[in-house]
Formats: sequence, structure tokens, C-alpha cells
Amino acid sequence: MILVTGATGHVGGELVRRLTAAGEPVRAMTRRPAEARLPDGAEAVHGDADDPASLDAAFAGADGAFLMSAQGVGTAPGPTHDLALARAAARAGVRRLVKLSVLDAGAGTDVIARWHADAEAAVTDGGFAWTLLRPGRFMSNALQWAGQLRAGDEVSIPFADRPAASIDPADVAEIAARALTTDEHAGSAYELSGPESLTPTEELAILGRALGRDLRVRPVPDDAARTGMERYGFPLEVVDAIMRRTLESDRGAEVLPTLPKLLGRPARTFEEWARAHRAEFAG
Ligand SMILES: NC(=O)c1ccc[n+]([C@@H]2O[C@H](COP(=O)([O-])OP(=O)(O)OC[C@H]3O[C@@H](n4cnc5c(N)ncnc54)[C@H](OP(=O)(O)O)[C@@H]3O)[C@@H](O)[C@H]2O)c1
Repeated sequence: MILVTGATGHVGGELVRRLTAAGEPVRAMTRRPAEARLPDGAEAVHGDADDPASLDAAFAGADGAFLMSAQGVGTAPGPTHDLALARAAARAGVRRLVKLSVLDAGAGTDVIARWHADAEAAVTDGGFAWTLLRPGRFMSNALQWAGQLRAGDEVSIPFADRPAASIDPADVAEIAARALTTDEHAGSAYELSGPESLTPTEELAILGRALGRDLRVRPVPDDAARTGMERYGFPLEVVDAIMRRTLESDRGAEVLPTLPKLLGRPARTFEEWARAHRAEFAG
């Protein structure tokens, strides 16, 4: 049986669908099992990474697990959710672990690098057959525009002209499914991107075509983006790191060869993602 954490999320949700469609027994972890809409064949189980004791029942009997954490960098002294999940997996004797990480996790010395290095170490130092997935920006981040698009055709977007080779979470899930169902990917860390480098401005134009609407960007100046993150409660050290990474590095814009090599097909495009997710932008 495979335990999927973040089973109601973008990657976890696609992974649950993919594994159940392949006939794998799946347990889908969420803090609110009664509300989870899951495909037939998936069993909802309660688990909260803020409450490590709740994780034992979720992991019991699993031979593989997909780990993700929604804990914000810098909101705790370290990645306590990743640690709690990896420890629960060890207590339950889980053999295969696939961890959803981020591009360049652990590279560098800032607060974001330190956080992700510790989060990955929780998995790689735990005696598991582990696989690390390190994707760049998700295409699903465009869903942050949905609220504004219900009110009109203009969207405020920070860093609107910084490009990224964003990736479809469904592609990440497809690789996770392979790593959870064979031993071929044990000990591998995969840096993943989508198939083309686009700015948010270009993504909005593509989304507009998929929705049949003429959408416009209202750019957010960089200092307003910084103030917004501070007001939202991001720790200052994290805001500094995000600003530096976003404005000074083009790393996320690189189209990486890993995904097509692993899946034997091109990565899905933003246009394909936008068409598949049209309904989520409707009123
Ligand atoms: N967005 C990006 O551009 C990007 C890029 C690279 C990597 N990533 C990484 O991808 C991950 C996000 O993945 P996603 O987009 O698939 O997630 P998501 O759609 O944001 O969903 C968040 C998931 O976290 C679960 N969750 C929240 N708090 C929890 C808690 N206390 N205990 C257990 N589960 C909890 C939620 O489950 P319930 O609410 O049902 O409990 C939900 O399934 C993050 O680790 C992020 O660092 C994101």
C-alpha cells in the first residue's frame, strides 16, 4: 500500500488518481478526510504534520510513501513537518520514499537553501530507498490569478517579466508514481522543469487564449512585491532570499532534459495545462 501525503494538493491529487487508475492500493492523507473528494480505490486517512502522533495510523502498513510539506520556509526553526513525516515513515517501516522537494534544494547558503537541505536530509539519512523530486515553478501557481479573473480581465502580478520553465504538477506526479512502484529510481535526485521558458505575462496571455479572453497584466513594482510578502507574514530573511533568487538568478528559466528522459515524451506545455484547468477559472 502506498501512502500519499498532500493528497488533496496539486501533485498529491494527481498522484492519487494515477496510482488508483493503475490498481495500486492507495491511502490518501489529509487533515479533513470527510471533505476529501477521492477516486474509487483510495482510502482517506487523517494525518496532520503539526501533530506527529496523528501520523502513525496514516503510515501503518505502507510500503511506500509520497512525502510533501506545506510548511512555509522560516515559519519554524527548521522543517519540522518533513522531520515528523520521515520519522513516522521510519517507525512504520516504510521502504520506498519519494519526497517532493524544490529545484536547487540545498544549493547555496541562504535560509531557503538551509531549510530544504535539512528537509531532504530527513529522507536521505533515514535508511529508506529514497527518490528526491526537485521541480521548479508549478504551472498551477497561475491559479492564484483565479480570484482576480472572476472580477475582471486585469491581474496584478509580481515579477511579471521574470521567466521560468514552469512544470505541470501532473508531470511531477507521473514521475512520483514510477518511483513509488519500481526500484529503478532509488537513490536519485531529479531536477525537473517544464518544456519552455515563459514569463508570467506570457503565461497570462496563453491562459487568456484558453479562456477566450483578452487578459492584461498590471505589473506589481518589486518594492511593492517585497512589502506584500512582509505584510503576509513572511520572515524578513525569507523575503530577502526570495527577492535575491527571483531578481538575480535565471536558474528557474532553464529547460532541463530530465523529464523527457524519464517519461520518454515531452513535458506538458502551459497551453495544455491552461486548457485542462479552464473550469477552475470560471465563476
Ligand atoms: N508551487 C511551486 O511553484 C512549487 C515549486 C517547487 C516545489 N514546490 C513544493 O511543492 C509543495 C506543494 O505541493 P502542491 O502544490 O502539490 O501542494 P498544494 O496544492 O499547495 O497542497 C497543500 C497540501 O498540503 C497539505 N497540508 C497542509 N498542511 C498540512 C499539515 N499540517 N499536515 C499535513 N498535510 C498538510 C494539504 O492537505 P489538507 O489541507 O487536505 O490537509 C494539501 O494537500 C511544497 O512543498 C513546495 O515547496 C512548489
